[in-house]
Amino acid sequence: MSRLSARDLTLAYEDRTVVHDLDLAVPDGRVTVIVGPNACGKSTTLRALGRLMKPAGGSVLLDGRALAELPTKRIAQQIGLLPQSPVAPEAITVADLVSRGRQPHQHWWQQWSDADERAVTEAMERTDVAALADRNVDELSGGQRQRVWIAMALAQETEILLLDEPTTYLDISHQVEVLDLVRQLNHDKKRTVAVVLHDLNQAARYADHLVAMKAGRIVAEGAPDEIVTAGLVKEVFGLDCVVVPDPVTGSPLVVPGAPWQGTSTL
Ligand SMILES: Nc1ncnc2c1ncn2[C@@H]1O[C@H](COP(=O)(O)OP(=O)(O)O)[C@@H](O)[C@H]1O
Ligand SMILES: [Mg+2]
Repeated sequence: MSRLSARDLTLAYEDRTVVHDLDLAVPDGRVTVIVGPNACGKSTTLRALGRLMKPAGGSVLLDGRALAELPTKRIAQQIGLLPQSPVAPEAITVADLVSRGRQPHQHWWQQWSDADERAVTEAMERTDVAALADRNVDELSGGQRQRVWIAMALAQETEILLLDEPTTYLDISHQVEVLDLVRQLNHDKKRTVAVVLHDLNQAARYADHLVAMKAGRIVAEGAPDEIVTAGLVKEVFGLDCVVVPDPVTGSPLVVPGAPWQGTSTL
């Protein structure tokens, strides 16, 4: 079952089409990871799934209805989107930015409730930014700021969460922390998550459903251990590699082919 899906979706910037007739069903309650080379249309697709971009053709459906027909607030209560390079309002504190995630749940008669307070506190704790609550977002390191954005998306408490390269700027331990958090949310709260990752091995580790894109089209999708092969990596990324089982998880681990070593002149 899929609450969120794309049907015949075509996406364009002015007259340049970057996503072509894409069909995608985001499986409910699972983690979907989208991978593919730079500029293949991953962010554009995710933005359209979150209604930040209008289709040039086809549609994105939520519960069988085109996003374009649904009220913005209703969508924002169901779908949270963290774009690839979000821009924070100037001079905003961490706590204020995370609180903005609650906007879709507020009403004119009640600006702030206990539920809002709890959601914000929990989101900041889960992303390890509670200690930064009073700091200005623009004074933070790239990694800290990224975790604040993730907190904002979590505070929105949507059943569907779309994250575009949430591990960018993070050191390896925070990358693993964020991906574990995604898995936990999926497990504890049955959240549906669709995430773009640039690291194929992380993608293969964390995805229930892996989607490989190239030049605005889906080349393969399915369980990582069914679709990640040397042939697919060559086709999608143009890379020669060996695929072995990840020693920890058993998921496919892509090891690039022999590195350049120079030639002996002797
Ligand atoms: N705002 C924009 N205006 C015009 N072209 C864009 C814009 N954003 C992205 N593109 C172009 O659309 C294509 C797909 O981009 P994108 O979806 O960001 O790729 P990915 O996330 O896979 O790296 C690229 O060729 C990119 O240059
Ligand atoms: Mg992108």
